[in-house]
Amino acid sequence: MKEYDFIVIGSGIAGLSFALNAAKHGSVAVITKRKGADSNTAWAQGGVACVTSDEDSFELHVRDTLEAGAGLCDEQTVRAVVTEGPERIRELVELGLQFDEREISGHREPDLGREGGHSKRRVLHVQDVTGSEIEKTLLGELERSPRVDLLENHMAVDLITAGKLGFATEDRCLGVYVLDAQTGEVKTLRTDRLVLATGGCGKVYLYTTNPDIATGDGVAMAWRAGAAIANMEFIQFHPTCLFHPSAKSFLISEAVRGEGGILRNSRGDDFMPRYDSRGSLAPRDIVARAIDAEIKRSGAKCVFLDITHKDPDFVRERFPHIYETCLKFGVDMTRQPIPVVPAAHYQCGGIKTDVNGATTLPGLYAIGEVASTGLHGANRLASNSLLEGLVVAHRAFRTLSRAPRAQQPGGAITLPEWEAGDVQDVDELVVIYHNWDEIRRLMWDYVGIVRTDKRLQRASARLRNLQREIREFYWNFRITVDLLELRNLATVAALIVDSALSRKESRGLHYTLDHPELDDRHYQRDTLLSRL
Ligand code: SIN
Repeated sequence: MKEYDFIVIGSGIAGLSFALNAAKHGSVAVITKRKGADSNTAWAQGGVACVTSDEDSFELHVRDTLEAGAGLCDEQTVRAVVTEGPERIRELVELGLQFDEREISGHREPDLGREGGHSKRRVLHVQDVTGSEIEKTLLGELERSPRVDLLENHMAVDLITAGKLGFATEDRCLGVYVLDAQTGEVKTLRTDRLVLATGGCGKVYLYTTNPDIATGDGVAMAWRAGAAIANMEFIQFHPTCLFHPSAKSFLISEAVRGEGGILRNSRGDDFMPRYDSRGSLAPRDIVARAIDAEIKRSGAKCVFLDITHKDPDFVRERFPHIYETCLKFGVDMTRQPIPVVPAAHYQCGGIKTDVNGATTLPGLYAIGEVASTGLHGANRLASNSLLEGLVVAHRAFRTLSRAPRAQQPGGAITLPEWEAGDVQDVDELVVIYHNWDEIRRLMWDYVGIVRTDKRLQRASARLRNLQREIREFYWNFRITVDLLELRNLATVAALIVDSALSRKESRGLHYTLDHPELDDRHYQRDTLLSRL
């Protein structure tokens, strides 16, 4: 058993920025499933929404965030993230990150991007590769820190809690079992300050803009440990994912529409003004639903994003990554509209936390996409998430470093080692892959952009069966990363369906044909689920 002052699970913007601060105060383990840089953050194209211009204000950013959130944001959290954002951005710049700038009347200013739902240009970016530049900066800094153990290719299996061990004390998080994917060994790591920063769950859907690692591990583990989970019905579908048979999960940033890109249907019509006066740059929930309706009505496979009317040099310079990737798939975006479809993009709910990342389970914190802090409400405003990751990571660190250390029940107890029991290797891997595909397809078909009670009930029944089968696998076979991810995926899928079934109205990202109206009287509140 190894002990750390802090354990962080996940290596995106939230986890790494927390770990960098924590390393100034104690020993830190950062646990990550694949390589350090494999995170949702590294895939973020748009940038970081932050008030830096004289033409903008905190009040406007707060207002835009609350409006997108459709009545479910926590205003205290929104204000904290918006007003503390600039200081956190300054720290990132001090670490060496250079956001794009432009020259205005002889001096340099940030080149601010525009995205849906923002009343001002306020998105700091590094071309269209902001996330990977942030990831590189933070990871470079972390690798220089002698107090951090970066455990790559390690996957958290489950949290260890006083409750699970049967202690007759207050339940709290005591540590975590971690699978070393290379050796198959399960390690026992102990801490009284454990931070989940595992990102979202896009892989629960057949089509997603997320990388393969986004399997909802943090939410599933927190759920099993008894922490409250909030608002999982609010899954954001990004309107524009590249549509091509061999382009897996490639996002076409909303910034393309921010720079004038227009959505057209297969007849070439600019259809968005029929759905919303803000046209192609309306908030994401509206655009994704409009595309879904256009596709269903026409029977076409996709719609098109057209930026061919802009100067090709500008397009190539502003979106080099998107330009090159589209070109690889045979689309020159300076001359041809890009075929696009909506895809699952962001989990707006998650583990319920306060504005400092504290969950309902003492000793357990959650930051970044895995957490439901109240910033996003029923619909996240574009590019608010990287800012949230920075601000809440900082607050979590400040809170944890000031809090008294927990007394382990019964003094310095030893946590029990993982018991593998009399298990064998999985005999038929095909079952894992089949179940994985089935979950993703049924979530796409029954729990997607437009829902009904019947589709949700059908999904719920199928998921219960799948969960039973997966549970048998988990207890009878040697665990692998694939099996653990499948187990987590099934848990998170069931949480999304249960949350969606309990909200009998349409709000933000949750839209159901059976209850198409907003019902503030009954549903202007978080959906909370807890196993205990
Ligand atoms: C994008 O670039 O469109 C994604 C930005 C975000 O999801 O915040």
